[in-house]
Amino acid sequence: MIEHVAEPGWVDVERYLTDVVVHPEPAHQRAVTSALEAGMPAIEVAPNAGKLLRMLVQMSGARRVLEIGTLAGFSSMWMAQGLPDDGRIVTCEYLRKHADVARANLDAAGVGHKVDIRVGAALDTLPTLAGQEAFDFVFIDADKENDANYLDWAVRLGRPGTVIVMDNVIWDGAILEPGRDETNAPGIVKALEMMGQDPRLDATAIQTVGSKGWDGFAIARVR
Ligand code: SAH
Ligand code: DHB
Ligand code: MG
Repeated sequence: MIEHVAEPGWVDVERYLTDVVVHPEPAHQRAVTSALEAGMPAIEVAPNAGKLLRMLVQMSGARRVLEIGTLAGFSSMWMAQGLPDDGRIVTCEYLRKHADVARANLDAAGVGHKVDIRVGAALDTLPTLAGQEAFDFVFIDADKENDANYLDWAVRLGRPGTVIVMDNVIWDGAILEPGRDETNAPGIVKALEMMGQDPRLDATAIQTVGSKGWDGFAIARVR
């Protein structure tokens, strides 16, 4: 895990934007609090990013969402809210404890019926999803070593037009400093290079600052 080093001004501005523009609901806040109380890491997306995910799900007209990395269900909650009532999100989580906390949060938010949590290593779960209807939207946010593997699975389980969002692609700038983080940064770099080179993908990447430090996300579209 990387330490979030956030300038006070970034956090103040994020709080302002969250209050004035984003308007998270009590269920979102409760999901964050529940994770802290359960001793889970505070590595969910920021509220403005969660709402971006919800809006991208809505704007893309997605009905089937795949998430890799559930934690307490904060990002799952935002995305599930962007789905129609018959829409579904499959979210992959390695730790049973995280999946249990997420289940309670998603049920309490009234979106539990849209969410299928699969416990286990995502590289074991993803092959079991082949042969189902294609996913329209994929959010990759788990162990960064496997980002390129997850990107490949997203393409295979998607269709032309599927939108893929990958979190944490800047990692406090460590992507440009080989050796500073020998597991996460090389995995992220491999995925970014794949986004730029794989003929199946068209992509961009955006840097962000805020409560989660200096980081960013990439968005790809399956050709
Ligand atoms: N998307 C969440 C945050 C996810 S944090 C949000 O924004 O609210 C990353 C999560 O990925 C953690 O819960 C961690 O347990 C899980 N994870 C790590 N390695 C994994 C793996 N190999 N397969 C599935 N989940 C994994
Ligand atoms: C970490 C993981 C994340 O998905 C994130 O958004 C921030 C940090 C981590 O493992 O440190
Ligand atoms: Mg993340």
